[in-house]
Amino acid sequence: MRPSNRLDRLPPYLFAELERKISEKRAAGVDVISLGIGDPDTPTPAPVVEALCEAAADPATHRYPSNRGRPELREAFARFYDRRFGVALDPDTEVIPALGAKECVFNMNLAFLDAGDVALAADPGYPVYTGGPLIAGGEPVVMPLRPELDFAPDLDAIPAGDAERARLLYLNYPNNPTGAVVRKGLFERTVEFGRENDVLVVHDASYTETTFDGYVAPSFLETPGAKEVGVEIFSLSKGWNMTGWRAAAIVGNPRAVEAYWRLKTNIDSGMFEAVQLAAIAALDAGPPREMKAIYERRRDLVCDALREIGVDVTPPRGTIYVWAPVPDGHTSASYCELVLEESGVVVSPGAAYGPNGEGYFRISLTVSDERLSEAVERLRGSLTP
Ligand SMILES: Cc1ncc(COP(=O)(O)O)c(C=O)c1O
Repeated sequence: MRPSNRLDRLPPYLFAELERKISEKRAAGVDVISLGIGDPDTPTPAPVVEALCEAAADPATHRYPSNRGRPELREAFARFYDRRFGVALDPDTEVIPALGAKECVFNMNLAFLDAGDVALAADPGYPVYTGGPLIAGGEPVVMPLRPELDFAPDLDAIPAGDAERARLLYLNYPNNPTGAVVRKGLFERTVEFGRENDVLVVHDASYTETTFDGYVAPSFLETPGAKEVGVEIFSLSKGWNMTGWRAAAIVGNPRAVEAYWRLKTNIDSGMFEAVQLAAIAALDAGPPREMKAIYERRRDLVCDALREIGVDVTPPRGTIYVWAPVPDGHTSASYCELVLEESGVVVSPGAAYGPNGEGYFRISLTVSDERLSEAVERLRGSLTP
């Protein structure tokens, strides 16, 4: 048996060593607390679950769904975008449901990249922005996100040759892993860049509904001209505590949406109709409001504790992560190993999100307040200088 060369192109999995150590610790009886993964611990809102149960009991939902999704679901996404962002979408041509943002990001690479084409990917970033282009036979070129620019890429620093070969540009605000919100003017500059270079802008809006301190995240499509050059991927995973449901949509430029749909007719058979009906209930009700307060409280708990142990952290205004610098003398991997060793707490090494994540670690706020308090106490106890 010989797996394809495609798989050889993927970078080594940086969590592998950490995962081995976690298993070792657990086997030795250590009560490991994982703050490594961004998977909401709070249940999906009850009305959404009820809508699913009711729909699943109807045999009419049991057959192959359409890849375009039910018209009512596309209309529900359009209604949500209008109400939430003031963005008008044509549900017939500008919305296609996706089986999670991850599937959508990945398949956009297959739909838009040929051999030698470049995908510009924010770095640090969600790993599929670089792994996806590699599997598709394209070439990811990273755009460093630096704190001096509020973790915005400097589009003017992209080498002309890369800009010329680029077909896709990935952005994501609020940003995983840095927690940054979009810098003023970035979306406008990105529209210009897309026009100048004939690049499709793909904005991953997975975290627009998890923001704090009264900050309201915009849609990229609010930017004048955005629909001419771009699409947005909107997911119910984080905002509605629905990571297991695989419910998202791509919205925006109709030609890009159509290309994604054409590709998908060859890959999957759409979203379970009962999930579609539950997603309509979720979109119409809006994201559960209490989540912002829950994450804000947890963010403060973590940031206060990190500051006490001498970590210089900026509290994020969005996402479900805290991004903090590792102390001098450590790499992100060595610091995460130390934290695990000393406190039994798992945090993610920044380098797992790309070369520009080196020097940082990420803490996820998706464990119960009780476990998070326990983790914070352990960090205080074992890492205080
Ligand atoms: C930036 C970003 N995009 C996409 C995803 C995946 O979202 P989904 O559950 O909709 O596939 C994640 C998950 O962590 C993410 O951080």
